[in-house]
Amino acid sequence: MNVAGRRRTLLKAVLGTSLIATLAPFLSWGGYLFRPEAAAGQIRQRIINLKDFPVNSKLTFPFPATGDPTVDSDPFRQYILVHLPSGDLKAFSKVCVHLWCLYDYIPEKREFQCPCHGSIYNADTGVSIRGPAALQPYPTNALPELTIEVDPDGTVYATGLKGRIGYGREYRAEAAWIQQRQSTSPDTPAVAYVALKDPLPPEEFLTTLRRYDVQLVKWYGYFDKSRTEREWLMNEGEKNVTQATAVYGADISAVPAKLQRLLEDQRIITLLPR
Ligand code: FES
Repeated sequence: MNVAGRRRTLLKAVLGTSLIATLAPFLSWGGYLFRPEAAAGQIRQRIINLKDFPVNSKLTFPFPATGDPTVDSDPFRQYILVHLPSGDLKAFSKVCVHLWCLYDYIPEKREFQCPCHGSIYNADTGVSIRGPAALQPYPTNALPELTIEVDPDGTVYATGLKGRIGYGREYRAEAAWIQQRQSTSPDTPAVAYVALKDPLPPEEFLTTLRRYDVQLVKWYGYFDKSRTEREWLMNEGEKNVTQATAVYGADISAVPAKLQRLLEDQRIITLLPR
């Protein structure tokens, strides 16, 4: 067995208790962390149909799936698909980029939480926003993400992989589309999804958008009815936004130069094309 094989055997043994070797980030990461066929988008694997996957639910699945239970149980093949309250679908590697424990999605919080050392990840982006993983330098603070496709009949497929499992992802490159729009159509407003690092009170959120002179198309937030009961909300424009406890994301419209300036605000993780 080669070195990579021995590390994988160790990883699987330790992950039986949901804990991974503490020296993981210091190991050189070889080809076994990277599946070329997945990164190249050569796989189109059926995951589930939306009729069986309600909003704010989660599903763990192997990718690429082989049909062999032993191979498919490999932690480095484990991904989590979440159907966010906004309706968006996201799929990330389940291996925490801190020390390789397997984290989980917490529907009540709409975030990923790692049980080992408390790293928290934004569910829109897979970027760690608190805990030790958040202290790691870019791009080692973000979960590798699968590209998701949905057929007209609601069947969900996983295709290519962005990033390296257990290591990270260059998520800032995913905002490069704004610069491209700036060079091709600088005067045409573009619609973007704003992923906030932390939810903002509605007044602060609106003030921020006005400061950067961008238009609010749709907002996503929640209302805390009590300490344990949270209602997920969304609405067009600014309608009812002040009734929310907080806003966690929004669709906005602005010319590329204004989006570029907004992207530099530290409270924003990234802007995704809509
Ligand atoms: S392994 Fe340390 S926070 Fe996840």
